[in-house]
Amino acid sequence: MISEENIPNNVDLSSDKRLQRALVEWLPNYLDWWRAVGPDGFQEKEIYLRTAISVDTDGWAHFDYVRMPDYRWGIFLAAPENDRKVGFGDFAGQPVWNEVPGEFRNTLRRIIVTQGDTEPASVEQQRLLGKTAPSLYDMRNLFQVNVEEGRHLWAMVYLLHSYFGKDGREEAEELLARRSGDADKPRILGAFNQPILNWLDFFLFTMFTDRDGKYQLAALAQSGFDPLSRTCKFMLTEEAHHMFVGETGVDRMVQRSCELQKSAPDGDVRKMGGIDLPTLQKYINLWFSLSEDLFGGEISSNAADFFSAGLKGRYREDQLPEHKALDAAYSMQVVESGQVVQKEVPLRNAMNEVLRDNYVEDCQRAVDKWNRTAKKVGVEFELQLPSRRFHRQQGIYSGLHFDPAGNLLDEASFSRRKDEWLPSVSDNAYIASLMQQVTEPGKIANWLAPPSKGVNGHPFDFEYVKL
Ligand SMILES: [Fe+2]
Ligand SMILES: [Fe+2]
Repeated sequence: MISEENIPNNVDLSSDKRLQRALVEWLPNYLDWWRAVGPDGFQEKEIYLRTAISVDTDGWAHFDYVRMPDYRWGIFLAAPENDRKVGFGDFAGQPVWNEVPGEFRNTLRRIIVTQGDTEPASVEQQRLLGKTAPSLYDMRNLFQVNVEEGRHLWAMVYLLHSYFGKDGREEAEELLARRSGDADKPRILGAFNQPILNWLDFFLFTMFTDRDGKYQLAALAQSGFDPLSRTCKFMLTEEAHHMFVGETGVDRMVQRSCELQKSAPDGDVRKMGGIDLPTLQKYINLWFSLSEDLFGGEISSNAADFFSAGLKGRYREDQLPEHKALDAAYSMQVVESGQVVQKEVPLRNAMNEVLRDNYVEDCQRAVDKWNRTAKKVGVEFELQLPSRRFHRQQGIYSGLHFDPAGNLLDEASFSRRKDEWLPSVSDNAYIASLMQQVTEPGKIANWLAPPSKGVNGHPFDFEYVKL
């Protein structure tokens, strides 16, 4: 079962007996997990998937029909850089670590487990969506995201098995034991326990939540623990596809919504069987706020410790002019005595917020693009990101209530108006009513526009899944 043939890798697996032994035990459990809570149905279907077979530009994206349980998950790290040095924090300028530094062992393990936990969680969250896929193209993209999240789990499990001994192996088993949304054994982070009920959720999840993943991986790609850095660098290339699915998925919904609005006699998109932009806005409010929570508290001693230790840097830290972040302050809005006021925080303690800034800017770029799409079709409606204070469950704004513009509200006012800002029971029911599986090549559900191009040079009407 364990061979170079079925586990493509660039970590010299064939000569690493210890890693082979660990994988021999873990792999059957992984496959059991995949069959039990991976994509429901479709396991025996042939799907046009890409598989990473090397990290070279031409090697990593190999396309062919595959049954998902036969997918060759594999272990890839970006090539090492010669003489790489720790790039930031208290150890800046010292050689990077190729073994886990004893004093940071627990911290590093926690970082890896927290990242690793999100990967199987998202597969579990998305497991029912194949049954309502709006087209074969979208179904194929869903399964591509799913198998790659599986591979990301492998990437983190590789680190646990290779560098953390017995407790690493135990953590690797736990990653298969927790379940998204389970009352007793939930996944670690909030957004990864939220149900993904429909394709609107899926597109917004891959837009906003996978994009959190991009920023976390980018910060870890700066790590002084070199195997983590190299693993994350390669994962980022796969993450780009997930965000593409989300960002273009929303764009295609906007396109279709505007077309329907233009053609409806009274402009009522719902009467035409589409998703109206005010409803889409509510789902944006929901998934953007849930995803912002994943960055952690605005003022965080953990974040400061990760930075000081050289374990987790800033976005594109290597391109910043300064890498110590001492004697600098970050100004943020906090709530004091019922008022939103500006406050200075030591920069190292604000690292989560610094990363969130990069994220919000990237999200705004996508929203601007969606708005240009609406304009092109001739519809005047501006989608917006809500204030980062809106609907937060983590950090300094949690436990308080704000409207999407960021104004502080009392709980009663928030509850009264909640359904204007977040998907209501009836919104979810309406969206559910639109979710019908479309399986004929070249056909697509009424609420979604087709993509501008297909996968790997194939047209939209290519048979991406053989049903
Ligand atoms: Fe991932
Ligand atoms: Fe992802």
